[in-house]
Amino acid sequence: MTLAYLNGSFLPLAEARVSAMDRGFLFGDGVYEVIPVYSRRPFRLDEHLARLQRSLDGIRLANPHTADEWKSLIGRIVAEADSDDQSVYLQVTRGPMERRNHAFPQTVVPTVFMNAEPLVTPPPELCAAGVAAVSAADFRWLRCDLKSISLLANCLLRQLAVDAGCAETVLLRDGFLSEGAASNIFAVKDGVLLAPEKNHLMLPGITYDVVLELAAAHGLPCQVRDVPEAEVRGADELWLTSSTKEVLPIVALDGRPVGSGRPGPVFAKMFDWYQHYKREVMRRG
Ligand code: PDD
Repeated sequence: MTLAYLNGSFLPLAEARVSAMDRGFLFGDGVYEVIPVYSRRPFRLDEHLARLQRSLDGIRLANPHTADEWKSLIGRIVAEADSDDQSVYLQVTRGPMERRNHAFPQTVVPTVFMNAEPLVTPPPELCAAGVAAVSAADFRWLRCDLKSISLLANCLLRQLAVDAGCAETVLLRDGFLSEGAASNIFAVKDGVLLAPEKNHLMLPGITYDVVLELAAAHGLPCQVRDVPEAEVRGADELWLTSSTKEVLPIVALDGRPVGSGRPGPVFAKMFDWYQHYKREVMRRG
């Protein structure tokens, strides 16, 4: 049985029901988090909860739980899930309304939902082969820093990749790299790691932070700045990062090879650093 959490109760996922008048359903009015769990230990939980708070602040919705309450709810979901490695999904919406009305209800009763799915990180063969991506103009809104459940634009953009038999869509806005449809994007040129600076045009990825921390810890030269489209297309390496994909090399963009067309040497190092770091964190508990 897959256990879910909904508004104070733990119940089988198939029995979880929300009102058709929920603002999450009618307006996409809510925020979410995806937290990777390794060996039943949530990875970077404090950072995910801090980002959740920033997203809630950004949409003017009070956090229904303290960090300790979140940790205990997540703890139960994690303990009762079938697999040891999981992806915990949590979402908070502005709850149901009596009549459809864009303005916030006078009394907000948020809807809190959570479940866990098995975490399927990219298998070693995929990391060794890399994935293909397409690029597209980033037509999303101007608050991409909020982890909003309004993901229609991200879904449309990701589908462009799927339609082309690719894994991800690399988004470019006004001639600069923003991120992927559901990931952050890094470039490598002449041994230097290039990453767009966090701003309102991209999600501040938790994995993005880990990668930059590992780069700093291992003395990998790194520039966090605007990355023009020409540098994306001329990169020696491109990577995508996310909580579920970790770090994955992009070896073709729009049908053309990235660098040598094979995962590069800097990726190989980052992959090892990431896996080692993950094991260390899990070992320390
Ligand atoms: N998405 N940018 C976007 C638009 C994303 O949707 C995600 C992750 C990221 C990477 O963030 P993080 O490293 O914190 O996972 C960047 C999640 C996994 C999802 O929607 O399923």
